[in-house]
Amino acid sequence: MPIVRGRNIEILFSAAEIARRNLELARDIAAREFHDLLVISILKGSFIFAADLIRCMHGAGLAPEVEFILISSYGAGTESGAVKILRDIDAAVAGRDVLLVDDILESGNTLKFTRGLVLGRGARSVSIAVLLDKRGRRQSGIEAEFVGFACPDRFVVGYGMDAAHTFRELPFVGAVTD
Ligand code: IMP
Ligand code: MG
Repeated sequence: MPIVRGRNIEILFSAAEIARRNLELARDIAAREFHDLLVISILKGSFIFAADLIRCMHGAGLAPEVEFILISSYGAGTESGAVKILRDIDAAVAGRDVLLVDDILESGNTLKFTRGLVLGRGARSVSIAVLLDKRGRRQSGIEAEFVGFACPDRFVVGYGMDAAHTFRELPFVGAVTD
């Protein structure tokens, strides 16, 4: 078991497994024949997944435009579930097919908010790709069209995801065990 910052990390999804799955996801995305595709990476947690996925999408013959939105959610799991934009995208979305990319779909509050935002600006369609789906925690009716892996109900870190701003750099997804 890797030790990082003095903590034991159990590997849940290895770098190799993730790389293989990203190739499959990119092929699934390419099969949809999206038009004028705009990928929106939801920061911060999705930055590594988005970086790998768009390169796999290139390999699958796609040429998306890429944007970033910084969203803060005040406590998935709290009574408010309030979500707010900290840094918006620059591109216009009207008439375009949009693919939202996030690390984890948990309560669904973040993606419900972001999907509503983009649809409200006139996107032709909005699809969702997430690396991990914590299905048991859903509070909204949101589902992702493209899911890397079903995630156990544990707090995970790595591959962009953090615990109190640490562990984003890990090339795998893991859980702190001590
Ligand atoms: P929700 O779907 O709005 O509840 O929020 C999901 C967001 O919460 C994800 O985009 C992550 O940023 C964060 N998150 C949820 N579960 C975890 C976890 O286990 N580790 C790290 N971040 C998480
Ligand atoms: Mg996030």
